[in-house]
Amino acid sequence: MMLLKQIKEVRKLVKSWRKEGLTVGYVPTMGALHEGHESLIKRAVAENDRVIVSVFVNPTQFGPNEDYDAYPRNIDKDMQLCMNAGAVAVFNPEPEEMYFDDKSTSVSVSGLTDVLCGAKRPGHFNGVCLIVSKFLNIVTPDKAYFGQKDAQQVAVIKRMVRDLNIDVEIIPCPIIREEDGLAKSSRNTYLSYEERKAALVLSRILQMVRKELDNGERDANKLREMIAEELNKEPLAKIDYVEIVDSDSLKHVEVIERSILVPIAVYIGKTRLIDNFIYEL
Ligand code: PAF
Repeated sequence: MMLLKQIKEVRKLVKSWRKEGLTVGYVPTMGALHEGHESLIKRAVAENDRVIVSVFVNPTQFGPNEDYDAYPRNIDKDMQLCMNAGAVAVFNPEPEEMYFDDKSTSVSVSGLTDVLCGAKRPGHFNGVCLIVSKFLNIVTPDKAYFGQKDAQQVAVIKRMVRDLNIDVEIIPCPIIREEDGLAKSSRNTYLSYEERKAALVLSRILQMVRKELDNGERDANKLREMIAEELNKEPLAKIDYVEIVDSDSLKHVEVIERSILVPIAVYIGKTRLIDNFIYEL
């Protein structure tokens, strides 16, 4: 298991793999790895000859009042998980390795980033697109794996890769949940005992919505109202957004006629949690 700190080390390693004709899978992460990440790495291992994972808490995707400093970091534990899951190398650069002091290039995907998390976290997706495009340029993988929990991120990255003709296949992977339904997230570690219990409201509501859709409900506003009503019953929960959007364009939907994404973002105490599902029609 290799721990790489420098871009040139990654380039050298990938070049040597290419010379042997090996395929390369890549899993970008911010560390604090859990079973959700593990499932991405295992899928990458199953589908590629070599897998590299990046562990980098990317400063440019955090807003000034967000949790960049507090974001959990534990590279030894992360390395262990990567190794057990079958990755060959971990790229864990320092911020100075990734960003020049006088960097002057930005990467922004318009439209898709003005809604949902993008509307609530201005600049967030510019930071994500910048770092992901840099990593894709450095690693040059055949396939890159992203969790569907960040559904908007997947849609934005796919659009960026298409628009910039980046030669990589983006593979979205299903949300991994705790036994009681809570979507796995590095931020779950922030929750107190009471908050952890309250956080179950997210997955519970999404299940209710799925049932309504199965029963034929096609009025998106009715469903939005139902979600808001249920969330308001949980005293520790504060709605950030509740939406029903087209799963490709992320545009607001009134009548459900094709595949939709149902994303919600909720503060449980001070912790902002997201969850979603895609309903195929
Ligand atoms: O999903 C994440 O953890 C991050 O947004 C990513 C893709 C690793 C970019 O920093």
